[in-house]
Amino acid sequence: MSQFQAVRGMHDVLPEQLPQWQRLEAVFRAVSARFGYEEIRTPVVEYAQLYLRSVGPDSDIVRKEMYQFTDRGGEQLALRPELTAGVVRALVQHGLFHRRSLWRLWYYGPAFRYERPQKGRYRQFHQYGAECFGSPYPESDVEIILLAAAIVQELGITAYELQLNTLGTPEERRRYQQALREFFGHVRSALSAESQQRLERNPLRILDSKHPEDQPFIEQAPVLWDYLGTASREHFERVCDAVQAAGIPVRVNQRLVRGLDYYTHTVFEFVSPQLGAQNAFGGGGRYDMLVESFGGPSVPAVGFAFGVERLLLLMPPQPVEPVAQIYVAVAGEVERAQQVVMQLRAAGYRAVVDLQRRSLKAQLREAHRLGVPVVAIVGQAEWERGSVVLRLLSDGTQWECPLPELSAHVRHVLSR
Ligand code: HAM
Repeated sequence: MSQFQAVRGMHDVLPEQLPQWQRLEAVFRAVSARFGYEEIRTPVVEYAQLYLRSVGPDSDIVRKEMYQFTDRGGEQLALRPELTAGVVRALVQHGLFHRRSLWRLWYYGPAFRYERPQKGRYRQFHQYGAECFGSPYPESDVEIILLAAAIVQELGITAYELQLNTLGTPEERRRYQQALREFFGHVRSALSAESQQRLERNPLRILDSKHPEDQPFIEQAPVLWDYLGTASREHFERVCDAVQAAGIPVRVNQRLVRGLDYYTHTVFEFVSPQLGAQNAFGGGGRYDMLVESFGGPSVPAVGFAFGVERLLLLMPPQPVEPVAQIYVAVAGEVERAQQVVMQLRAAGYRAVVDLQRRSLKAQLREAHRLGVPVVAIVGQAEWERGSVVLRLLSDGTQWECPLPELSAHVRHVLSR
């Protein structure tokens, strides 16, 4: 029994799992580049105040889930529960909006939330996300959604639903929240304890409630649509139409409110029935006020993030490549094998060599176990003739190969 375990809800990514992660990371990089998005990296730790002012002091994330601590200098810090706030902080801090009025950015990295761990929900997880700053127009919402959908498609994920909603302008939402407060206020004592708490702080979040006792009231509650002005409605309709025209089916979900306070207008979530309770594998929306609220210029923005572990649960498994293309086995002096393996690596092959001075038979068994297709056997007699034996593990064929021709032979057998 190991003396130490990883912290609850935090996971190692073992070598056999890494190929799938790397495939995902390659897709993030390639698709972001195809859309003209540039990468940005920000620290894992920020001042806690940053999240109070963006994600919101009444959100579950800040109230219950944030890893918050005082450092040795007395600063209130937090492990980032999401990456958007840090990206906005970085843009404002470095004055990037003075250089360009439009920024397309993507990021990838760990985030932390103190939630009850279960399938698809962890305390350290990873997000890939993209943010588009500088356009108030529906075409930027659409670009962000199409970028997300392109990634999903490239990963081979087909069974999902894209849910869309609009939260309108802050003013429209305020009026709607007031209406909700009045409506739910009349039935207060019949609501779940959680919804009663939300009634004062953030009545919108009652719409998100999963408690059965809340459902009949939620069904009768006023809908935000009735509180939206023409401009907000038109913005939303254009987003829906354009996404649909791009061949992505959307479902308008009037109850989709998201758990972060910074949103205005469009919000969306990618949902999969295969994930169970934690069914959203990505989410985002527009946040036109955040940059200004951090002391920057008035810059509209829209973005999203995927939960990387949830994408991994949904991706069809890929065939895994063996760690090496060629195994150098030695039946004599190890230095010779070192020479051969270096020659192969210099020629660009992925090559490994025995490091445990095992018998030739044990080395061949190891090559089999690793799934390496070709073995170069460095034996006494062949070495004296300036050659090695090449053996294909699939059928046991073998032949003698002069050292100067080694990489040509290897290229030939690997391409078959
Ligand atoms: P979010 O919906 O809180 O949005 O998180 C985005 C995604 O992160 C979720 O859809 C989910 O897949 C994943 N996720 C969240 N919590 C966990 C967890 N405990 N374990 C595993 N996965 C998790 C945001 O974070 C926003 N910053 C998205 C955004 C970007 N909005 C605008 N720009």
